[in-house]
Amino acid sequence: MNRKTFVKNCGMSCLGLLVAPAILQGCAGTKYIAAPIVGSDMIVPLSAFEVIKEAGIQYRQYLVVQNDSLQFPICVYRISPETYHALWMKCTHQGTELHVFGNKLQCPAHGSEFSNAGTVQNGPASENLKTFAVVLEGTSLKIDLR
Ligand code: FES
Repeated sequence: MNRKTFVKNCGMSCLGLLVAPAILQGCAGTKYIAAPIVGSDMIVPLSAFEVIKEAGIQYRQYLVVQNDSLQFPICVYRISPETYHALWMKCTHQGTELHVFGNKLQCPAHGSEFSNAGTVQNGPASENLKTFAVVLEGTSLKIDLR
């Protein structure tokens, strides 16, 4: 290995060490759960949003909810203790599964972005995401899949 290759390899290794923790931290922030479907409703326990820390219970901003009978997952945002948004994670441009980052969903195919209410923020998608009605019932959310 010559000097130039050695320096290049060291630089790439250092870059990897800097970037890897950020990527892993991003992955750790998203919680995926499998949720049952009863009739036409997907049932999500509110406890899935809870994160127990030393300081007390904190709440996740969102969950990604899956069921084998659905072609795409649903992203459920906790806007407040009484308000939740459920978004179909299928891009309205050409149907790619979206990724969720904080308050946004992004499409890995061509870069469209959607808000946590499902509104298009950047194209090429021009239609908002499909949303589902969410009803808070006791200790669960019922997501109406109709
Ligand atoms: S499929 Fe999502 S932006 Fe094209």
